[in-house]
Parts: sequence; C-alpha cells; structure tokens
Amino acid sequence: MSTRLLYNIRQLVNTRMRSHPLRGAELAELPVIDDAWLQLEDDRIAAFGAMQALPPDLRLLLGTDTALDVSGCLVLPAWVDSHTHLVFSGSREAEFVDKIKGLSYAEINAKGGGILNSARRLAETSEDSLFAEAWQRLQELTRLGTGAIEIKSGYGLTVESELKMLRVIKKLRERSRVPIRATFLGAHTYPAAFRENHEGYIEKIIGDMLPAIAAGGLADYIDVFCEEGFFSPAETERIVRAGQRIGLSAKLHANQLHCSGGVEVGVRLGALSVDHLESMNDAAITTLAASDTIGTLLPTAAFFLRMPFQPARKLIDAGCRIALASDYNPGSSPSGNMNLVIAMACTGMRMLPEEAINAATLNGAYALSMGDQLGSITPGKMANLIITRPVPSLAYLPYAFGTNLVGRVLIRGEFIN
Ligand code: NIG
Ligand code: FE
Repeated sequence: MSTRLLYNIRQLVNTRMRSHPLRGAELAELPVIDDAWLQLEDDRIAAFGAMQALPPDLRLLLGTDTALDVSGCLVLPAWVDSHTHLVFSGSREAEFVDKIKGLSYAEINAKGGGILNSARRLAETSEDSLFAEAWQRLQELTRLGTGAIEIKSGYGLTVESELKMLRVIKKLRERSRVPIRATFLGAHTYPAAFRENHEGYIEKIIGDMLPAIAAGGLADYIDVFCEEGFFSPAETERIVRAGQRIGLSAKLHANQLHCSGGVEVGVRLGALSVDHLESMNDAAITTLAASDTIGTLLPTAAFFLRMPFQPARKLIDAGCRIALASDYNPGSSPSGNMNLVIAMACTGMRMLPEEAINAATLNGAYALSMGDQLGSITPGKMANLIITRPVPSLAYLPYAFGTNLVGRVLIRGEFIN
C-alpha cells in the first residue's frame, strides 16, 4: 500500500466524514479545514485534519518523497462534470459568427445547421479520429481540474453512428483513469431523413438503437432533448420508458429554450437529473423542489447563446437540489472549463462561491450516481483532487475568472501534471 501526504494546505475544501446530495440552503454549507493535511492510500482518500494535530506517524513523513508541501494552496475535490457532449467532430465557429449577426439558435437548426451539421461531420469521421479528438479534449479538461465526466451520444442519429459514438465513449472509459459515464441521446433531434416522420425515428430509437445498446452494454443513462420543435413531453416519456426497461436511468435536456414540460415529465419518470433550466416557471420550480431529481444548471450554455442565466437563486430558495456542469459541445458551449462554469455561476446567477463549489463537486457526483465515490474529501472516496496555485482565499477562484488557478491534479491518487 502506498501512502502519500499533502501538508501545509492553506485550506482543505469540502471535508465530510459522510455525504448526501445537498438541497436548498445546505448548498451554502461548505466545510473547510484551515492549515490542513491530507493522507492518501493508493487511489483513495485515507484521512485528514489540522496541521496542529498531525499524527506522529505522519509527522515522520515530512521532508520525505512521500510528503508534498503545498503551502499557500487550496486542495479541493476535482470537478465532476455531469453533462457534456465531449465526443464530436470539428467545430462550428461559422454558426457562432451567424449568431453574432443575429440568427437565433432555432433558426440555425432550421436551416440544417446546429446538431445536424455536427451529425453530418460525425458520419464522415472515422471512429479512430473521433476517439483521438475526444481524447485530446479529455486531457485538456483533466488539466483544468475535471476529475469525472459524463459524455453523451446524440450526434449520430443513425443506428450506426450512435453506436460509433458510444463505442468511442467506451474506449475513453477503458483507457482513461478519469471515471466516465455514458449517456445515450439518440433523441437529440430528428435526422433529415425523418423530418416528416417523427414516429419512424422514435421507432428506430426504441426498436433498433436501444436493443443494440443493451447488447453491447454501451450506456448508463438515457437523455432526450425535450423541447418545442424537438421531442414533446409525451415522446420523451415513451423513449425514457423504453430506456428504463433496459436499465438506463434518465438525465434529460429540459426547459432550455421554452417551458417545455421537460421538468415535469422528468420528475414523473424519476429522472436522476433534469438539465439546462434556462426557462422555468413557478410550477416547474415547485415540481422540482418537491422531488429528488437534481436540477443541473449549465451557465456557459446560457452565456454562449446570450440567454438569461438559469434562476439559481429561486431554485435554491425553493429547496431544489442543484448541480453545475459545462455542457461542453460545439454548438452551445464550446468550452468544458469547469473553472469558468463556477465563475459564471457566481457572476451570472449570483451563486455564492461555496454553493458553486458544492454544486460542481458533490452534487455533480450525485448527478452521476457516484456521490459515494467522488465529490468531497471523505475517507474512502477516490483521490481525485485539485491542488490550486497559491491563492489568498476560496472566493479568489471565481473572482479571478480569467486566470488558470489549477496547479496540479490527481486522478485516482496519481498526479496527471
Ligand atoms: O445541450 N440543447 C441541446 N443540445 C446541446 C447543443 C447541441 C448542439 O448545438 O450541438 C445543448 O445545448
Ligand atoms: Fe447538453
């Protein structure tokens, strides 16, 4: 067994002897220890405490190779990014320029851009190239402190291409130390061939895609873009129920562009999370607050599409469970930088730094059913950690939003940089 000690930690953040998903006002409670030590055993967190109470056997390690002096730095659980579309081909900056000129997201979709543009490119890209692109992105995100990630399909939209995406995610999972969860998002939009035949495409999802996914063990979750002009609540329900029959829990795209009924259908189906939530009314907020479903907010998507930010304060005050994620994708959030997500949650949504950090670590982990493994400094959890550069305080992280303050990152107890 290999022991490692981090010591002289300015502040050890999110220390909990046990954890549960945080709701409402609990989100602002971020336990920290000033001037702390942290002991790791192999890939796990073993123990922690204040320097003045460093046990004598660990004191013997000071000055040896197994102990690292991190004076001036914070140590926190690595970010858990519970909503991304990391596997995609190329980029869509031409649409970005169209949007600057005044076209809306819906107008770009209607003229064959948007998701369909990415789907065309993905169909032309080999599985190996797709893997290579995604691998690069994953390495970049890990260096920025992301220590667990969810990745969706949804740029395939044919049996062949959806399976290709899910196989790429599986390969990332096999080759990376980062815990990865896969979500099947065949119901992202209607492919051109089924524009006038929605029923035909839904039958393809349920009759062809889901059985192949079940046979290959290729997904953990099922997602549907529940939105006007995409999938209705009734269609969402049919698709989710079919996914649940093969063991996939639901994580839905809900209430992004309109009050689409996505939150209500998600809660009724016992979804693990309903994500986006830019467009919320009182009924949707009350429904979410009365449930165990996590509301995952994606502030960089709101920012990039120039939409009003998600009503985080209302959701927290109503007693919802809130997580934060990046939505990394080529159309609405071409950044997977969770440090930026936290900064935007604070400036754009008025979340407190403590709330944002809890939402991007512990509640993010619960939004991936990994709350018992990740998201806090808890004995027995995975040692997926961020060691910051020297900083004056915790609030400095979202405050100094343009500076990369992530110093070193550990994944399963090993330094990756
Ligand atoms: O989460 N809203 C649906 N899907 C993505 C965007 C996909 C795209 O534009 O490529 C999102 O924002
Ligand atoms: Fe998304």
